[in-house]
Amino acid sequence: MVYDNIVLIGFMGSGKTSVGKILARQLFKDFVDVDSVIEEEQNASVTDIFKSKGEAYFRGLEQKCIDELSKKKGQVIATGGGLPIYSTIPDKSLIVYIDADFDVILGRLPKKERDKRPLLEDETRARALFSERIDTYKELAVFTVDANQKIPVFIHVIRDFILDQRVL
Ligand code: S3P
Repeated sequence: MVYDNIVLIGFMGSGKTSVGKILARQLFKDFVDVDSVIEEEQNASVTDIFKSKGEAYFRGLEQKCIDELSKKKGQVIATGGGLPIYSTIPDKSLIVYIDADFDVILGRLPKKERDKRPLLEDETRARALFSERIDTYKELAVFTVDANQKIPVFIHVIRDFILDQRVL
């Protein structure tokens, strides 16, 4: 299989954006972040889109965005935590699951970052959401990395895997 793009999936705050930026640099690929693209196009933050237009509307934007981004090849694409749950990730994506435990994620996220994520407001609900989603993340992944350690520790595991694959 020749993959068009590397697509990072995982729960909110697992490190997809930070990992994606570093990976893209190391692999000489472009980096794109679905949430940021949506925020730019809508000229509004994810929190504001949730508030003003609702979650279903945001999910529609995510599907359009990943379809649009996937017309190009050779990129590292970071997705929002819900994208793989509500959208179809185009074929020929090398999907990497950044697999961190819920408590590790909470410990990693400063309050400022938590506040940007409407679905993290209620910790009990967020924990339930995490449990609901992990099976889907694992099923979709071509490669799952144990992301409970610090990013510099596990990033080379992802890079080594990718370097063994054929990605445009
Ligand atoms: C969401 C994750 C967020 C963002 C939105 C919804 C989710 O992205 O897309 O708040 O449903 O898990 P991150 O995974 O980058 O936090």
